[in-house]
Amino acid sequence: MQFTVAIDGPAAAGKGTISRAVAERFGFAHLDTGLLYRAVGMKGGDPVAAARALSEADLARPDLRSLEAGEAASTVAVLPEVRAALLEFQRAFARREGGAVLDGRDIGTVICPGAEVKLFVTASPEIRAERRWREAGAGEYADVLAQVRARDARDMGRADAPLRPAEDAIPLDTSALSIEDAIAAAARLVAARLPTR
Ligand code: C5P
Repeated sequence: MQFTVAIDGPAAAGKGTISRAVAERFGFAHLDTGLLYRAVGMKGGDPVAAARALSEADLARPDLRSLEAGEAASTVAVLPEVRAALLEFQRAFARREGGAVLDGRDIGTVICPGAEVKLFVTASPEIRAERRWREAGAGEYADVLAQVRARDARDMGRADAPLRPAEDAIPLDTSALSIEDAIAAAARLVAARLPTR
């Protein structure tokens, strides 16, 4: 069975947690596509060459979840040649046998416009900044909020594959939801679209 779940949304909205949980619940493979851009950003040198030569070792770097890697990712992610170099890998992953969940910014719009389920996970910038700030356990809330807003502006304002919901994406606002409730809501939406066996 081929079955693709596309989960898009801004940084710290809960996409990653929801995607991992949905993949586990239904036995699907999961790809955090942000890691691809993070790995390209952290490799240094020419980002287009880095994207074309991305290896397993690049994706296994321990520092890919850092704030620095997130910033580097959103800088290289504006380059159309970088996005083009990463496209086929993501599409092949999406169509693998047994089902796949991909989370990112342009999965429902560009990478997998035919995905069986498209979710657009959001939360207010203040709530997302608060989550990030609590996770980090250090620094100033105001700085984290400024970073969240700057990353949103860069991701939504770029010309190539900007962050926006696909027309047929289902919005899921997690501002007032617990993690458990957000996962349950997403799982219900996926279950409703699974082919009956
Ligand atoms: O989701 P994550 O925070 O790991 O993504 C890091 C950055 O990579 C994003 O801010 C965005 O600029 C870029 N990205 C993208 N398209 C994706 C996934 C991530 O442009 N599908």
